[in-house]
Amino acid sequence: MKRNFILTMLLPLLGVIFLLPSCESDPDSPGTEFMPDMYRSPAIETYVDYGEIRGRENKELKTKLSARHTPKYTIPFVGTDESYVSMMMPNKYKAGKAWEETHGLYGWDLSEESQYELTRNVTVNPYTMTDDNADKILSEGKDLYAAMCMHCHGEKGDGNGPMIQSGAYGDLGVVPAYKSLDTLSDGKIFHSIYYGKGYMGAHGSLLNKKEIWTLVHYVRQFQIDGYGKEEEVVEDDSADLEETNSAEELQVEEGDTK
Ligand code: HEC
Repeated sequence: MKRNFILTMLLPLLGVIFLLPSCESDPDSPGTEFMPDMYRSPAIETYVDYGEIRGRENKELKTKLSARHTPKYTIPFVGTDESYVSMMMPNKYKAGKAWEETHGLYGWDLSEESQYELTRNVTVNPYTMTDDNADKILSEGKDLYAAMCMHCHGEKGDGNGPMIQSGAYGDLGVVPAYKSLDTLSDGKIFHSIYYGKGYMGAHGSLLNKKEIWTLVHYVRQFQIDGYGKEEEVVEDDSADLEETNSAEELQVEEGDTK
C-alpha cells in the first residue's frame, strides 16, 4: 500500500517539481541552471581578467596583472640537459618589494631590498657561447630583440627605437645606448631584463631564462666589436670582461669600507 503510494503519487509529483524550474517564457533561456559551474567555468583566464569569480565582480582582481605565474619554485620541463635545466632554476637574485607597485610584480618572489647590486658578481653568462653555437645564439637573440626590445632600444642599440622617434614614448626619460653600459655585469643585464629597471618593464613573464641569457649575449654584441664572430676568440672577451668586472668589484668593495 505504502509502496503504491510512492509510485503513483510521490514520484510524478517530484518529477513535476524538478521539471518546473526549466519552464521559462523566454525561448532563448536554458531555464534555471542547477550547476552553472559546468557551463561557465570559474577558471581564471590568463590574459583577460573580468574579475568575475562565481558571478561576483571582484574589483581587486580587475586592476591587477592577470597573467598568472606558475606556483613558486616550479620550473618548466626543458629536457634533461643539465646546463639548460640549471639555467631554468628559480632566480637567486630578487627584485625589491617596491617593484610590486612600480613594475607590477604582484605575486612575484621578491625580497625586502632589491638585490640588483649583488648581481655585479654574476660575470659569467650560464648560456656558454662557443664557436659552434655563437651564430645560433646571436640569430635567436636578434629575433627576440626585434620582438621585445627594438622598439625602445633601437636596431643599433643606441636607445633610439621607433617608439622614441615617433614620440610615443613621450618624455619619460632617455633610453640609454648599450655602448654606454659596457661595464655592466652579465648578471645586472639579466636582472634588468627579468625584473625591469626604471621605465623599462619586467620581461620575466614574457621570456624564459634561456631567452633572457640569449638577449644578454645580444646586448653584448652591441658593446664589444666582433662579439661572437669567428675571428675573435670569444673566451678571451669574456675573460677580459670578468677582469674588468672584478676590478670594478674591488673598487666598489674598497669604497664600501671607507
Ligand atoms: C619601454 C621601452 C623599453 C623596452 C621595451 C625595453 N627597454 Fe631596456 N631600457 C629602457 C630604459 C628606459 C632603460 C633605462 C633604465 C634605467 O636605468 O632607469 C633600459 C635599460 C636597459 C638596460 C640597462 C640595464 C641596467 O642594468 O642598467 C638593458 C641591458 C636593457 N634595457 C635591455 C633591454 C632588453 C634586452 C629588452 C628587450 C627584452 C629591453 N631592454 C626592453 C627601455 C626599454
